[in-house]
Amino acid sequence: MEDAAETAHGSVNTSDSEDDRCSEEELPSSKLGTKEYWDDTYERELETFKDIGDVGEIWFGEESMTRVLKWMEKAKISENASVLDIGTGNGAFLVELANHGFTNLTGIDYSGTSIELARSVLLAEGLTNVTVKEVDFLNCHDELKGFDVCIDKGTFDAISLNPDNAKESKSLYVKSLQSVLKDQGVFVITSCNWTKEQLLERFKEGFEFVQELPTPTFTFGGQTGSSVAALVFKRVL
Ligand SMILES: C[S@@+](CC[C@H](N)C(=O)[O-])C[C@H]1O[C@@H](n2cnc3c(N)ncnc32)[C@H](O)[C@@H]1O
Repeated sequence: MEDAAETAHGSVNTSDSEDDRCSEEELPSSKLGTKEYWDDTYERELETFKDIGDVGEIWFGEESMTRVLKWMEKAKISENASVLDIGTGNGAFLVELANHGFTNLTGIDYSGTSIELARSVLLAEGLTNVTVKEVDFLNCHDELKGFDVCIDKGTFDAISLNPDNAKESKSLYVKSLQSVLKDQGVFVITSCNWTKEQLLERFKEGFEFVQELPTPTFTFGGQTGSSVAALVFKRVL
């Protein structure tokens, strides 16, 4: 989420205090927060996939998937665990999860063309037992329930950039997450728009922080930081 990341980090870095960074800060809205943007993106990616078999953008790179998969292995997440990929995009993470032995996989996205692309990508890999469906996570009511694991890579970031109502969208996201995860279920989020502290603040109600996954760091002007945060939470009722 390059252009979004730059603006967002800009705004985060100009904040004065820890309190400011944890407050109800809004990111500047962006086209990345609209469904039209994602529909257009996946329409192009679907054409490219049909033409040359390229699945398209892997958000935050391959290592962002490896990091989560390694954690799942270490945490001994069962291969039968029900896993939900929130905002699955091209479904590349579902392919990785299936290739690592996970058998109960669901991917959702509010973009119909994303789901078409993910379906084509999964089919090309011979993965016919992965569920993918067009669902708006902010409006999923009883459609999604009882997951052991929820994964988000870049989706909460995109939702936070909604030009219409980012504040409400973020609250709805937390509510949906609370309702789709089982008690003690885990949530693994990778974000480039929010810092660890901001994510801890956002997911403090109904969730317990488990750990931060190591991400590459950079040093600038004597300060060390990360451009991506990857955190694990546990649902607590
Ligand atoms: C930055 S992309 C990340 C895609 C994928 N997770 C990945 O890592 O490649 C954000 C994704 O979130 C999806 N998305 C945004 N808002 C959504 C919503 N309310 N419900 C479901 N999906 C949403 C977009 O369609 C897009 O596929």
